[in-house]
Amino acid sequence: MSVFPELRMRRLRKSPALRSLVRESQLDAGDLVFPLFVVEGKAIKREIDAMPGIFHFSVDRLAAEVDELVRLKVPAVLLFGVVDKKDERGSAALDPKGVVQRAVLTIKKAAPQMIVITDICLCEYTDHGHCGLIADGDVDNDNTLPLLAAMALSHASSGADMVAPSDMMDGRVMTIRKALDANGFSRIPILSYAAKYASAFYGPFREAVGSAPRFGDRRSYQMDPPNVREALREIEEDIKEGADIVMVKPALAYLDVIRRARDSFNCPLAAYNVSGEYAMVKAAASRGWIDGKKVTLEILGSIKRAGADIIISYHAREAAAWLAA
Ligand code: PBG
Repeated sequence: MSVFPELRMRRLRKSPALRSLVRESQLDAGDLVFPLFVVEGKAIKREIDAMPGIFHFSVDRLAAEVDELVRLKVPAVLLFGVVDKKDERGSAALDPKGVVQRAVLTIKKAAPQMIVITDICLCEYTDHGHCGLIADGDVDNDNTLPLLAAMALSHASSGADMVAPSDMMDGRVMTIRKALDANGFSRIPILSYAAKYASAFYGPFREAVGSAPRFGDRRSYQMDPPNVREALREIEEDIKEGADIVMVKPALAYLDVIRRARDSFNCPLAAYNVSGEYAMVKAAASRGWIDGKKVTLEILGSIKRAGADIIISYHAREAAAWLAA
């Protein structure tokens, strides 16, 4: 038995070296994924209002940004397209010369080692802002599936290394897997947004891509925030359907979900530290209310400690620079 005064927990906290020796988890630039917003047009690098330090890039401006990420040892980017022409069916998502398709080609040419992941969802491309086709006032699950599969195929054909469906339709992982396999892309992994909640933390992102739904909300397809057992069922289902990596999103208000997922499944686990989480840190830091760098590293570290192997974050670029310093 060891209790105070024989036991002294402070013994192992005495020096940086001791603390390093007993540290249980470590944030690493190699775990980070940086989201990139790609817009139409030329010579555009425009800061997003509610996300200081995050920009809209036109395709021609991507190479410089990606070079910097390579230098900082950030291994992967996640691409989102922002398009001018939206319609009911999100047709622009399938354009072989669309922004994401061109962005993938450009990045793979500039930095072949960069892992390029693309978001698969219609909400950035539909005029109503929902993540699928609309029928009878609701999102039509089964008729949306072929469009998602076509989008994934289009991205893979452009050279994407991985596709990440974020739409929350039932059966999309299986549909996308079949389509990829049938078209020579059996080696392209699927990172599924498996447990994605209907969260208010996506606010700044929807501003950035203009994807706020014109009517209703996403609660008929994204998850109800109070639920965790349901998240485990979603994840289990996606793994069965063929997901290679599963994600919990958002991260910070859902650390318990990350932990449960880590303890329940053995496949790699990603967490998305979303736009609203980023915006809150930036807003408080800009007023001097918190130390932005320390709070950011503490937050990212907490997501790691909760069990995420991969962290998708708008902080990825700056965090990698801090970690390297
Ligand atoms: C698309 C999508 C969203 C996010 C990632 N993919 C928004 C949404 O579901 O409304 C949110 C990312 C963020 O807030 O950083 N469906």
